[in-house]
Amino acid sequence: MHFSKADIIDLSRVKRLNMINSVSGIKPGNLIGTQSNDGNTNLAIFSSIVHLGSNPGYLGFVMRPDEEVRRHTFENIKANKCFTVNHIHPDFVERAHYTSAKFEAEISEFDICKLTEEYLYDFPAPFVKESVLKMALRHVESIPIKSTNTTMIVGEIQHLIVPDHSMNEKGYIDLSQTNAIGISGLNCYYTVEKIHEFPYARVNEIPDFEKG
Ligand SMILES: Cc1cc2nc3c(=O)[nH]c(=O)nc-3n(C[C@H](O)[C@H](O)[C@H](O)COP(=O)(O)O)c2cc1C
Repeated sequence: MHFSKADIIDLSRVKRLNMINSVSGIKPGNLIGTQSNDGNTNLAIFSSIVHLGSNPGYLGFVMRPDEEVRRHTFENIKANKCFTVNHIHPDFVERAHYTSAKFEAEISEFDICKLTEEYLYDFPAPFVKESVLKMALRHVESIPIKSTNTTMIVGEIQHLIVPDHSMNEKGYIDLSQTNAIGISGLNCYYTVEKIHEFPYARVNEIPDFEKG
């Protein structure tokens, strides 16, 4: 199948959305936990989280606009500058999926989706207790992406919780050990299997691929 730009634009809105949401490949599955200044907690699934820098640790995620409904995650982050990012695992992937429903601000997805709020290190945003790899971030900037009317939210890692057994002495984290999941589109979830590990790629250490 080949799709030109015109073909893509001609698709129905939902088909186009589903297709283009899948073409970047497997995306990470995370729940973002926040709290309003009134103390209402909020939890929502996001697949657009990316690494932006390591010293200190920076992550970003893309917040899509929605003119019709309020985006509670965005409102809470703007209000108190704090959020948590919690990996999703297979045993609660269905509950994680349903955090994407458009609940009212005073309804907590933690309650409805039966996930447990956890407060650690005096950080003023809720972690997800069921998640084994999770972090707390302080909001540092919001960058408007004019071409798509979206916003890149950038946060600096304040706390990182990683299971001991999943990290090696070099700091690499084996995401098959943590039972991470991957996401395609807006409703397909995958398990993760580590298939290879290679050394840092140096020009003078390229393997002889002819040998097979
Ligand atoms: C698999 C999946 C991935 C999602 N990823 C994102 C994302 O990266 N950015 C975004 O703005 N919304 C994303 N959403 C939609 C939000 O989860 C949804 O809009 C949610 O209602 C936001 O909650 P809030 O209003 O409480 O912030 C995703 C939904 C699903 C099901």
